Amino acid sequence: MAKVTIVGAGQTGATTAHWLTERQLADIVLVDILEGLPQGKALDLAEAMPVIGSDAKVYGTNDYADTAGSDIVIVTAGLPRKPGMSRDDLLAANSKIVRESVEKALAVSPDTIFIILTNPLDVMSFLAMKVSGLPRERVIGQAGILDSARMRAFVALELGVSVENVHCYVLGGHGDDLVPLTRHSNVAGIPLEKILPKAGLDAIVERTRKGGGEIVGLLKTGSAFYAPSAALAQMAEAILLDRHLIVPASAYLNGEYGQSGIFFGVPVQLGRAGLEKIIEYELDETEQEALEESANHVREVIETLNL
Ligand code: APR
Repeated sequence: MAKVTIVGAGQTGATTAHWLTERQLADIVLVDILEGLPQGKALDLAEAMPVIGSDAKVYGTNDYADTAGSDIVIVTAGLPRKPGMSRDDLLAANSKIVRESVEKALAVSPDTIFIILTNPLDVMSFLAMKVSGLPRERVIGQAGILDSARMRAFVALELGVSVENVHCYVLGGHGDDLVPLTRHSNVAGIPLEKILPKAGLDAIVERTRKGGGEIVGLLKTGSAFYAPSAALAQMAEAILLDRHLIVPASAYLNGEYGQSGIFFGVPVQLGRAGLEKIIEYELDETEQEALEESANHVREVIETLNL
């Protein structure tokens, strides 16, 4: 069985383990700095396996030696947002945590592929690539599946159709200036702009932009974790099963969409080697401008890292 390490056994890390073990895709190692937390959650999850009929093994640890030989390392370690905080407010604390997580994990799993979740996402993914020295194929950030899923959920609710019929593509940086491509989004092939009145579509776009904040405001003591972890599990599955799955994710750009030197949300193809391809849409002027604005914001924050 493949091996997936999840760094950070908090809400998102443990729930990612839950989704992955249920699908029997890999043995899971949960790592955390807190003593007892990864061990306790892993044991609890391991005790659920007979009930759901999965032979995936789950192990919790504070020692990276136990993560050796991982096919994928998912980094969720970090501080979540509190009400009123932006993702960028987490920069200083989470930079230190992500750097340490990547260095320690890579030392014992030199062939691994990293999937980064910790916020501010695009900046932490950049940091992970620089710290690891890995090619862009092996460091990918999770944001676009989540942002797109939020929009899909809102459209499905509004129209009373199955979520499976709703296809939305949200690109750009993972922040309030993300870029929902409404022109490319559709319900069973019919463009969203033809089905929803402008005011309704605008409201959904706005709710998608603020989707993370809406949940932070409700939970008060943490940020979203069910949808983020489902997105992580989908990315890990696409890689482990070599699915060549096209999903929006944060990738290092080398000229695609007119951008270089940043991680940014774009459609990517995922397979066993990690990032196989970046898909480029034809954008109109308004979409291109919105992407540039979002890219400028990500670039500004990346520059503060001084790497
Ligand atoms: N090494 C390993 N684990 C760490 C480290 C570290 N250096 N520092 C913190 N952690 C662990 C914490 O002990 C905690 O168990 O990371 C876990 C984070 O879990 P939660 O606090 O439940 O946060 P979660 O909701 O999972 O969000 C994690 O994802 O959405 C982003 O912005 C969010 O960066 C945050 C991350």
